[in-house]
Amino acid sequence: MTDIRTHDSKLEPSHAPLTRREVLHYLWFALSGLLTLSFLRFMVRYLLPRARAGSFGGLITVGRLSDLPTPGSAPIAYPQGRFWLVHADQGLLALHSTCTHLDCLCNWNAEQAHFVCPCHGSVFDTQGQRLKGPAPRALDRFVVQIVNAKGEVLAATDRRTGAALPVLETSASDELRFLYPDDAQVYVDTSFAILGSASAT
Ligand code: FES
Repeated sequence: MTDIRTHDSKLEPSHAPLTRREVLHYLWFALSGLLTLSFLRFMVRYLLPRARAGSFGGLITVGRLSDLPTPGSAPIAYPQGRFWLVHADQGLLALHSTCTHLDCLCNWNAEQAHFVCPCHGSVFDTQGQRLKGPAPRALDRFVVQIVNAKGEVLAATDRRTGAALPVLETSASDELRFLYPDDAQVYVDTSFAILGSASAT
């Protein structure tokens, strides 16, 4: 009697090595996946806003024009936007609180009426100009915007000069009054820093 043996190859695991064609196929598949992921990551970063409003890198609300401190008052810190708002006689300034030497955060010294860097002792005046220390330039500035109730920008800091933005004028009766409606809002745009001028001292 003939011994008939069946052989079912499907039941046995196959350990046949991959062919060169298969290896290339898998490599190509993996590379395509990586490229697609990189592209998607780039698109997401490009399309999404870089910073949320209200945090550093975005637009920070300071408040109503009529609520501003009077000219010559002590600077007000806005740590969420990393700046100090200064109401100088010439107008509003938003000074970046980061020292221009090695990026330490400056503090306001009320006694000396100066900004002082705690790291290496650079000192800046109320308008951010360097007075002494290793900082190579004045404190950088951000753009201040005055915006009306319709959302229209009525005035903004000159990005080329960074000069203080005037918001007050003297009336005929010798009183100070705002150049813009009292309910106008003040914002600071921290997405772009105007570099402080190099100091001669
Ligand atoms: S980091 Fe401010 S003086 Fe060095």
